[in-house]
Order: sequence, then C-alpha cells, then structure tokens
Amino acid sequence: MTQNALAIIVLAAGQGTRMKSRLPKVLHPIAGRTLVGHVLATASRLGADTIEVVVRHERDQVVAALEAEHPDVVIVDQDEIPGTGRAVQVALDALPSGFDGDVLVLSGDVPLLEAETLQALVDGHRAAAAAATVLSAIVDDPTGYGRIIRDADGDVARIVEQKDADEAEQATREINAGVYVFRAGLLRTQLAQVTTDNAQGEMYLTTVIGLLRENDEKVAVEIAADTAATFGINDRIQLAEAARTLNDRIVRRWQREGVTIQDPATTWIDDDVTLAPDVTILPNTHILRASTVATGAVVGPDTTLVSTEVGEDAEVRRSEATLAVIGARATVGPFSYLRAGTTLGEGGKIGAYVETKNAQIGDGSKVPHLSYVGDATVGRGVNLGASTITANYDDVNKHRTEIGDEVHTGSHTVLVAPVRLGAGAKTGAGAVVRKDVPAGALAMTVAPQRNIEGWVEKNRAGTAAAEAARADSAE
Ligand code: UD1
Ligand code: CA
Repeated sequence: MTQNALAIIVLAAGQGTRMKSRLPKVLHPIAGRTLVGHVLATASRLGADTIEVVVRHERDQVVAALEAEHPDVVIVDQDEIPGTGRAVQVALDALPSGFDGDVLVLSGDVPLLEAETLQALVDGHRAAAAAATVLSAIVDDPTGYGRIIRDADGDVARIVEQKDADEAEQATREINAGVYVFRAGLLRTQLAQVTTDNAQGEMYLTTVIGLLRENDEKVAVEIAADTAATFGINDRIQLAEAARTLNDRIVRRWQREGVTIQDPATTWIDDDVTLAPDVTILPNTHILRASTVATGAVVGPDTTLVSTEVGEDAEVRRSEATLAVIGARATVGPFSYLRAGTTLGEGGKIGAYVETKNAQIGDGSKVPHLSYVGDATVGRGVNLGASTITANYDDVNKHRTEIGDEVHTGSHTVLVAPVRLGAGAKTGAGAVVRKDVPAGALAMTVAPQRNIEGWVEKNRAGTAAAEAARADSAE
C-alpha cells in the first residue's frame, strides 16, 4: 500500500487583534525568526508534498516575509468570510484537484511544536485510520482556548470555543492546540456544512470535529506530552512566554553540546546561532542572527553579537558587534562597538570605548583605547595610540584610510582620509595627518612647545594657581 499524500496547511490570515500591533501577529519574532517562520521551519521537516500558507490580514507584508524565508510555500488568499474553517476551506480548494491524502493543519501562531510531535500525530492518525486526529493539551489555565468535550465513553464529542462555552465546558482543562490531521475528502465534505452561527460569527474549523462525530466518523485525540509546546500566541504576554520557553530550549541544547552558560535566565540565543563546545557565555548576553562562536571563546557579560563570527579562544566582554569577524585569540571590550564590516585579525585587540566600522584590522594589531576606526585597512602588528581617529567623512563622501604593517600612531592622532601610512611609520602625539606618510617616516604636525616662564604669577596674581606656583618654585 502506498503512503497517503500529505498536505500541510498553515493558518496565518487572522488579524491578531489582541496583539494591538502594526506588525501582523504571525510576523512577530522570537529567537530570531517570525512566529510563522518557526511553524514553517518545523513543517518543512515533515516531508509533505505541499505546504500552503493562508493569508489575508496585512497580506502583502506577510507574503513578502514568507517569500524571503520560505519561497517554496504556496500562498493561498482567504476571502472576506472569517474563521479558521474558511481558511482551511480555501486552502483545500487550492490543492491539486482530487487531492485525497491527509491534511495537517497548523496555526501560524503556535510556534513551539516540534517536528517529532507532528510526525507522531500524522503516524498515529494513519495507524488508527481516523477521519481526524486532534492534538490536545491539559493545561492549568484554559482561558481563550477551545475546549475538548468528551462523551460518556471518553471519546471526543466536539470542540467548543471559549466564547461559546457554558460554565461547565469552560471548566474543562483539556484544550484544543489548534493542530489537526484530517482525511482530505471528509474534511471537504464537512466544511461545506459549517456555518458562522456562533458567538464570533466565524466559520470555525473546530465545528468539523463535532460534525464528523455526528456522522459516526472516528476522531482521535492525541494529548501532547509537552504542554508548553502547544501554547498559542494571542497577546504580548504569551509572546514573551513563548520566547522564554524557546530560549530555555535553545540554551539547554547548547549546554548538552558542551557550552557553559552561566546564567540561562539572562542569556538569549537565536535559533540559527552556532556555538562550539567549550564556549563560555557570561550573563546578560545576546547572541543573535546566525552568529557563530568557536571553541574556547568567552562571550559576555553584557554583550550583544549580531551576525558575528567569534574565533577560537577569543574574548568579547561588555561589547556590541554586528556583522563582524573577530579572529582567534583576539580580545574585544570592555565597551567596544564593532559595526558592520569590522574584521579583527588573530590575536588582535579592540579595547575600551572604541568604535569600528568597515575596518579590516590585521593579525596582532591593537586599537586599545578611545578610538574610531572606520573605512580603514589596518595591517599586522599595528598599534593605534589612545584616541587615534580616522576622519573618514569630509561632509560629502566617505574615504578610506590605509595603514601599513607595524605602524604605531601617537595618542590623539587624527588620520584625515583619504590617507596612507606606509609600513613601520609613526605619528607624533596629537598629529593631524592629511598627507600620506612614507614607510618608516615619523609624521609630526604639532608646533614645538614653548614655555613662557612666570606667566601665571604675572597674569593671574593672587589666584590659587599663582600661590601654588610660588610655593613650588620656593622649595
Ligand atoms: C483557535 C481554535 C481554538 C484553539 C486555538 C489554539 C478555532 C475556531 N479555534 O482559537 O479551538 O484552542 O486556536 O491556539 O479554530 N486564522 C486564519 N483565518 C481566520 C482566522 C484565523 O487564517 O479567518 C488563523 C490565525 O492567523 C491563527 C490561527 O488561524 O494563526 C488561529 O486563529 P486565532 O484567531 O488565533 O484562533 P484562536 O482564538 O486562538
Ligand atoms: Ca490563536
């Protein structure tokens, strides 16, 4: 016997009123991915023949996000008839005609379910030859969810929505997770019977369950082992809770892989981050957007990495980096700000109160204190003295600064780009370098110092400074 075909329908057309947001609910991110993105990442692991996403509210915005992340899904537009039942109905109509396999329905706002759970639901449904299989959960607070109403035999009789439930039904703690498997043909037939005659004036998908039972069809219920994974997101409180749950899951995954995470409660790691064994993450650290950290590196405390690569045994403390590459054994921080296009070579250093942008800094080179290095190429073994600045912007255009190997600049050097410092060159303290410096040269731009003896006593007589000066010279 050949396996039934599988179609997955992801519901993402609802307005998400309770979020009170300009952003469509299903596009709110947790762990670096949109809610619907999580659902699709999971769905795509199930080997379905087709994945459809039903859209309507803020359709163009949702479609643009889907096309960027999941160009392979089929977009289906829901019409003005509201409700999850209608959403599934239009999705069924969009399937290849005569499709008679199994249909897995997922909600775009239930992001934490794992592929294994869904696969087990589909397998169980097939093994039981059920007309429909519902995923349920037993929760402490069922407020807002549809309730699973069982008959005297303990079989599901129907699902009643919160707003349509009487007091006894509301007390039921078994809820509908909004995830189901249906046989396509039966689903199609029963959806045709569903009306909008209910408290919300919507076509409920959940009505189908009662209709199937009335027609003596077999409906199975699978109680989820991991209750938290079934949580749906309808408001910002649930959004934060789901983000926390997912983060805990990600943190534990990396801990099992050999990463030390000192304070899981204040460490946030996106879903697509990669950490090597023996990485140490210190408190209050955010590692986001496909960042990677190599073995032995220490990140944190108080650090944010966005799309950043940290090399082996490097250290990044109390700093922020975006689209940066930090070499092996390099050190960054405290209080460094690495902007897009920063690369720091092996064993290099970017220190306190330093900002870098689009700067390639070579192996062993150091920018230790109070600097801005932007649009610059810095060779190997360079030391930029405290407060060295690349003046890359002339008010109209940005220009590059090129610094050769083994260059040392004096404190408070201003490198007015475009400018080139040859290998081994040096600058005096306070130099304002507007012309190229040849290899091996020392650039001085500050006038020699002149001391005017007795100036204070003469011009500031009677001040504390004058008193101190007199006392000092009398000694
Ligand atoms: C739904 C279920 C409820 C279940 C809960 C689980 C129904 C009638 N109720 O309630 O039994 O306990 O999910 O989380 O199904 N959507 C559309 N088109 C629409 C309306 C909604 O695509 O016209 C989408 C939404 O974008 C969302 C999903 O369907 O992704 C669920 O809709 P929502 O309004 O959140 O339903 P709930 O009230 O949570
Ligand atoms: Ca919901």
